[in-house]
Amino acid sequence: MNDSKIIDRHNRQLNYLRVSITDRCNLQCIYCQPNTLIPKLSHDEILRYEEILRIIKVGVSLGISKVRITGGEPLVRKGVYDFLKKLVNIKGLEDVSLTTNGALLKDNMDKLKSAGIRRINISMDTLNREKYKRITGRDSFLQAWEGIEAAQKAGLHPIKINVVALNGINDDELNDIAQLSFTYPFHIRFIEYMPIGTQLIKDKTPLLAPDILKRIESLGRLNPIASESYDGPAKRFKFQGALGEIGIISSISHHFCETCNRLRLTASGKLRSCLLADYHQDLLAPLRNGCSDNDLADIFLKAASHKPFKHQVAANQPAAVKGNMSSIGG
Ligand code: 5AD
Repeated sequence: MNDSKIIDRHNRQLNYLRVSITDRCNLQCIYCQPNTLIPKLSHDEILRYEEILRIIKVGVSLGISKVRITGGEPLVRKGVYDFLKKLVNIKGLEDVSLTTNGALLKDNMDKLKSAGIRRINISMDTLNREKYKRITGRDSFLQAWEGIEAAQKAGLHPIKINVVALNGINDDELNDIAQLSFTYPFHIRFIEYMPIGTQLIKDKTPLLAPDILKRIESLGRLNPIASESYDGPAKRFKFQGALGEIGIISSISHHFCETCNRLRLTASGKLRSCLLADYHQDLLAPLRNGCSDNDLADIFLKAASHKPFKHQVAANQPAAVKGNMSSIGG
């Protein structure tokens, strides 16, 4: 991996860009999209694919080597497969992945694969169809599960399953979900709920990493696995004899800000230096006013220079972060 020229004030090299290509989603998950209607961005307010590709190329020239496409739900945006193909072909970009809720995956798996996507993360917070409906607002459990199966059949690897751990909602299912790692080569990732946005889930005793681990440890011996260079912030484990892995993402109870290597681009063209802080630099207006690639590069460096050393969001504190997960892309 090349060194990145995007270095923040705390000497972190930023080489990972997460790109939300739409704020629209075919689900309405309780932890992501508030019930109140957030006005959706209009066509003109979101970056065109060519604009996103240009920004990413500038990022790559500065040392971005890894891009993840997120949403909203990225697969609802028209033209996404052509865009992905162009993205995968950008020289110098070593890793392109995608986060999806899986509901549209089965019918589009071939297109996704021929675009060159080899690994994906799929959100799946329950194995129960009724509960899925409660969490996501849609009766799409079967489609999402078939999406996971289609990804496996297509040979994508690793398939990471994102599970936001929520007390009183899926806490009784953590073992069943973790159990999947015995029979499938999936990486099951339990994620602590991050209370940001305008409507928060209120929970006096949120389900945090130590508790999640304690619960699933009853399934067998959980051996820690060393992290690799492209690993995200998950602490990795494997049950003795399992095909897949377990990951724990403890953004709240034990933040990993000191090793954070990320910037985030929203669909509206804002470059955020932290998921959990609202500071951003706008790229959309400069782009549409005819700025140069050097100007874009300067904006990258400026966003990086404002990256907070660590976030200030705590489990039970009303978050000071106004940005919604559904538009930042997690
Ligand atoms: N807290 C923690 N994780 C979240 N995600 C979305 N919203 C939240 C939240 N409030 C996760 C979902 C999705 C990923 C992109 O972000 O698991 O898969």
